[in-house]
Amino acid sequence: MSIKKAFRIKSEIINFDDVTSLLTYLDLNKNDLLLTESRIFDKYLENKVKDARVIIRDNYISHGPNSENLIEKITAESGAQCSRVIGIGGGAVLDLAKLLALETAVPVKNLFAQNITLHKARELILIPTTPGTGSEVTQYCAVYVPDLGAQFILDDEALCADQAILCPEFLSGIPLKVLAASSFDAFVHAFESYLSPLATPFSQALAKDAMQKILEVWKDVTSLGAADLEKSYKQLQTAGTLSGLSYANAGCAAVHALSYPLSIRLKIPHGEANYLVFNEVLKIYAAKNPTGALDDIEEIIASTLNCTKENALIKSDNLCGTLMQRKPLSSYGMKENQILEFTDMVLTRQHMLIANGYVQLTVGEIAQIYKDLL
Ligand SMILES: [Fe+2]
Repeated sequence: MSIKKAFRIKSEIINFDDVTSLLTYLDLNKNDLLLTESRIFDKYLENKVKDARVIIRDNYISHGPNSENLIEKITAESGAQCSRVIGIGGGAVLDLAKLLALETAVPVKNLFAQNITLHKARELILIPTTPGTGSEVTQYCAVYVPDLGAQFILDDEALCADQAILCPEFLSGIPLKVLAASSFDAFVHAFESYLSPLATPFSQALAKDAMQKILEVWKDVTSLGAADLEKSYKQLQTAGTLSGLSYANAGCAAVHALSYPLSIRLKIPHGEANYLVFNEVLKIYAAKNPTGALDDIEEIIASTLNCTKENALIKSDNLCGTLMQRKPLSSYGMKENQILEFTDMVLTRQHMLIANGYVQLTVGEIAQIYKDLL
């Protein structure tokens, strides 16, 4: 990840309250390629896209990351005859739309070759339908290469959306479990970027606001139930984009690094994987450097949840615990002999995230986390 201590926003951010106004604005036509998923297409878009070319990602893959194969298949299907690429969906849909807006995304291996410059050839509009990804405002794109059993992160300004559009109606009907994991991912984006050595007053202001917004919603859901959740969609979606802007500038760190093998090897969804490792990473942060930016975060949580600073992290964890389950990694199929493999994956594939940590984790500490979570 080549990020400097600076603050940049490359995309115009636009809000719509409902899908009807959004579709009027987009005015989809034959020059458009619309990439989406069936939950969104069936509920909101069918019969409203005129003659735009439509690709529904889950018609090609039921779940899982954007693999080399999938990217090559969908690139071939989509053709090159469009002037706008519009992605409406979760993080995987938005990442794929970023690739389809390039001059060419194939062969996929070339995207990672040294001395290759990526060129965006089409206008790119990204519209998230989960609250956590933040992908609509980042320059990142995750690509899975099955031959190597590894996921690579492209980091290039050519992957920035021209427009990021927020429309909270798309969150309607999203299962609570998905919403909880996705909003936890956004919380971690804000948390890790706030603590980052690359944080600036600008990224921290956005991260702080995002954490507060997410905590307020979690507090409401746990005290009032999920029936009224719909009124919080706008707040959650705004928080997800604020977190995205913050981590696009200051980066993520050890929580994302340690969750990586859980998603790649155990197929645990990204937000849930972050949740599983979060507390253990935090314990090391608190032991090694209890003051500094972590102290600020405790203050932010305490004032939002109306508790003492000493209890802040426990109280926010209790809130999450009512929305998500923390199960041992063995229940997802992890074996003891994978502790070393996972530790090695973190150190070889995620070293940039580890280097961007609030404190540096040792090899022994990383292995111990997996052992404790097993
Ligand atoms: Fe994430």
